[in-house]
Amino acid sequence: MKIEDVKNICVLGCGIMGSGIVQLCAGLGYNTTFYEISDEIVKRSMERIKGSLSRAVEKGKMTKEQMEATMAKIKGTTSLKEAAANADIVIEAIPENLELKKKTWKQLDEICPKHTIFASNTSSLMITDQASATNRPDKFIGMHFFNPAHVMKLVEIIRGAVTSDETYKVIYDLSIKMGKVPVEAKDGPGFFTTRFICYTIAEIIRLLELGIAGVKEIDTMVRLGFGWPMGPFVLADFVGLDTIYHVLEYCYNETGNPAYKPPMLLRKMVIAGYIGDPRQKPGSRGGFYEYFNVPREQ
Ligand code: 3HC
Repeated sequence: MKIEDVKNICVLGCGIMGSGIVQLCAGLGYNTTFYEISDEIVKRSMERIKGSLSRAVEKGKMTKEQMEATMAKIKGTTSLKEAAANADIVIEAIPENLELKKKTWKQLDEICPKHTIFASNTSSLMITDQASATNRPDKFIGMHFFNPAHVMKLVEIIRGAVTSDETYKVIYDLSIKMGKVPVEAKDGPGFFTTRFICYTIAEIIRLLELGIAGVKEIDTMVRLGFGWPMGPFVLADFVGLDTIYHVLEYCYNETGNPAYKPPMLLRKMVIAGYIGDPRQKPGSRGGFYEYFNVPREQ
């Protein structure tokens, strides 16, 4: 299969990352069907996408007609079969749980045509391991987007042990069509980007635990001293503290490197329901800013 042959894309999971990916695919004119676990979440996801597109119209980044054409390409469903039966590419953005992902890929392997490429937006779980749940490891690849997916330019592409060149080329070309810059990293826990960012955030949380500086002070120092667009705590709250926690635990278990050991403060916050910025994570009690009762500026 070549990129020109791709007509239908299925996106599994329409949360923070999935909704951005749906927006990108539909914006390119692909028939885009997303799968979610309940009608209520399908509805909420549609509203999230519509809200994001409306803001793009308000900002003059797209016309109202383009927005309507994009929305017309999107369909949401709670049926995995309906979502994936005609897909040329499946992009997966469900929770970061290896068993759940493997179970889902196994089901999809039976639902999808033989030519369908399976792309995982996992930020950490090894591609070769996920691919082993299917009978098409050559058509399995990592396509790692960054939050917000419709804005951030990078796509980290990860080949599993037996991913074919043909699969790589389709996903590379799709990334280019999306206006992204694809960069290849080797398979392994956390690839490059996730090991880099989670290690950094874990170390910053340890410095906070030590009392070296406060949440707002650290964010200000990193923004103004190092030019990050957002401070590390705003970023951590934005990515999701549950996600960071699970990624650290996985990287720690797989590598044995104590740099990835999840800090106790993070563990405590996640257990208590502080899983990130409530504007991004519905149902969250808050992130670092709410936990430490610091007013948000960003
Ligand atoms: N919380 C929630 N959403 C925010 C936000 C915040 N603190 N700040 C910005 N946004 C959203 C806006 O609502 C907007 O969404 P929309 O297009 O749907 O309206 C979008 O971000 C872009 O906003 P702006 O056009 O106003 O752009 P800015 O100039 O404010 O830049 C930013 C926003 C692009 C998010 C910038 O601050 C940035 O680059 N931050 C760093 C992001 C980053 O590091 N992402 C990678 C995270 S790691 C990851 O994703 C990997 C994963 O696998 C773990």
